[in-house]
Amino acid sequence: MNPTLPFEKILVIGAGIMGAGIAQVAAQAGHSVYLVDAREGAARQAHAKLRESLDVLLTKGKLTQVQVDGILKRIQPVDSLADAADVGLVIEAIVENLDTKRALFAELESLLGEDCVLASNTSSLSISAIAKGLRAPGRVVGMHFFNPVPVMKLVEVVSGLHTSSGVAHAIFELSKAWGKVPVHARSTPGFIVNRIARPFYAEALALLHEQSTSPQVIDACMRAIGFRMGPCELMDLIGHDTNFAVTQAVYAANFFDKRYMPSLVQSALVDGGSLGRKSGRGIYDYTAGSHPPTVDTQTLPLPAISRLQLHRRAQDAQTPPEWPSRLQAAGIATDLVTSSDWTGLQIGDLQLRQTDGRPASALGAQVVVYDWHVPQGGSAVLAFAASSGASADNIALAQALLGALGFAPQRVADQPGLVVARTLAMLVNEAADAVQQGVCDSAGADAAMKLGVNYPAGPFEWLARWGAPAVVEVLEALDTHYRGERYRVSPWLRHALWQAQYAA
Ligand code: NAI
Repeated sequence: MNPTLPFEKILVIGAGIMGAGIAQVAAQAGHSVYLVDAREGAARQAHAKLRESLDVLLTKGKLTQVQVDGILKRIQPVDSLADAADVGLVIEAIVENLDTKRALFAELESLLGEDCVLASNTSSLSISAIAKGLRAPGRVVGMHFFNPVPVMKLVEVVSGLHTSSGVAHAIFELSKAWGKVPVHARSTPGFIVNRIARPFYAEALALLHEQSTSPQVIDACMRAIGFRMGPCELMDLIGHDTNFAVTQAVYAANFFDKRYMPSLVQSALVDGGSLGRKSGRGIYDYTAGSHPPTVDTQTLPLPAISRLQLHRRAQDAQTPPEWPSRLQAAGIATDLVTSSDWTGLQIGDLQLRQTDGRPASALGAQVVVYDWHVPQGGSAVLAFAASSGASADNIALAQALLGALGFAPQRVADQPGLVVARTLAMLVNEAADAVQQGVCDSAGADAAMKLGVNYPAGPFEWLARWGAPAVVEVLEALDTHYRGERYRVSPWLRHALWQAQYAA
C-alpha cells in the first residue's frame, strides 16, 4: 500500500461493467479491494475476466507481469458484505434503482464503522435521496466514473444536501491519486456531463423532427468542428433506449421543464425497436455491415469574379483571417468593410452572411447564411441556408464561394441557428445555467465535457471563442422563432453579455 493513499482497504459493491473497472483502478493504485455482488459467482467471474483483459495489456506491453499479478492479488472476491467490514471506503456500483441502493446503504451503515465513507457511482440518482434516513448521511458522496473506467479520466465528485465537505474533499484527492481528473458537482439531475450534453442530442433530434436536413449532414457538420462522432451516430452507438431513458429522467427531475423535453423522433425509434447499432438499425441502418455516414463534398465551379466586399462586424473579429488570401488565390480582390453590422461576403445583391441565429429569409431576399465553424485543414463540411427569395444563381454563387473558401457546403432548410451554431449555443447555455445554479464552476464544466464525453472543447472555451453577444444572439433568434421555454437565455449568459458590452 502506498502510504500517501488514503483508505487502505476498499469495498466495491457490484461486479458489473463499472464495478469491475473501479476495482481494477483501485487495485492498480495499490489499495486492497474487496469485490462483492448479489449474484452468486459474479465477483469471481469478474475477477477471471479482469485477468483476461490484464493479460491483453501485458501482451501489448502496457503493464508488466509484476503489475498484473499485483492487481489481481489485491482484488479479493467475497461472498458477503460482512466479509469486508474492515474497509474505510465503499464504492457502490449496483443496479440503478433508488430503493435497492437505499436498502444497501442502510445495511452498510449497520455493518461498517461510523467513519467509513460511502460512495455511489450512480449516474442519475440523487445523492441526497440515497443518503436520506441514514444515521450519518454526511459520509455519503457521489463518485461518478465514466465507462470504460480504466480509460476515462473524469470523476464527478457529487455532493448531496448532507455530504460533508471533508468527505467530498477526500474523494476528490483520492481520485487525483488514482490518476483521474475529479470535478466537484452538486447533486442535481444529470450532474454535470449528462445534463450539459442534453442539447447535443436534442438539437439534432429537433432538426430531424423538422426535416431540416439529413442525419448524415448533421453528423458531418459536428465532426467538422472536432467532435469524434456526430450526435446521430453517437445516439445509435449509446442505444436509443438508454439515451431516451436519461432524457426522460432529466426531464421529469426538472419538473417537466420544456428545455429538456424528449423528442418524438427518439420515442418512435424506441417504440419500433430501432435501438441503434445493437439492434441493427437506429437512425442509420447497420444491416448491410458497418456504416460510415457520408455526405457529398462536391463543390460548384466558381464563376469569374474580380472583386467582392468582405464584411466584418466588431464582435465577429475572429472571422477567418485567411479568407482574403484564399479569395485572392481564386483571383478575387477584396474590399474590407469593418463597420458592417454583419460578417461575411457581398457580391452584387448577394449577401453571404455568417449566421447570427436568424433564418436567411428574415434578413432579406438575396441572403444566404452559413454556419459557425472552426479553422481546420481539408474541406470542412459547413451548413448553409438560403432565403426563400434568393435566386438560383445567387444560391449557386454562395455555394461556389464557400467551396473556394475551403468548405464542403451542405444546404439545409432555412431554420434558425443552422446546425453547429444552435447546438453549441445551447450547450453553452446549459453549462451557463449549471454554473448559475452552483452545480459546478466553469473550469469544471469544461474539464467534465472534454474528459467525460471527449468534446473537442469545453462550453466555456466555445463561449470565449464566439463571445457572449453572438451566443445570446443565436439563442434569442431560436427563442423568437420557436417561442416557449426551450431556448430561454441563461441568466448567467445575460450577465456575461452585459459584461462584454461594458468592456467594449
Ligand atoms: P451492470 O448491470 O453491469 O452491473 C451491476 C451489478 O450489480 C450486477 O452484477 C448485479 O448483479 C449487481 N447488483 C445488483 N443489485 C445488487 C445488490 N443489491 N448488491 C450487490 N450487487 C448487486 O451495471 P453497470 O453498468 O456496471 O452500472 C452500475 C452502476 O454504475 C449504476 O448505478 C449505473 O447507473 C452506474 N454507471 C454506469 C455507467 C455505464 O456506462 N454503464 C456509467 C456510469 C455510472
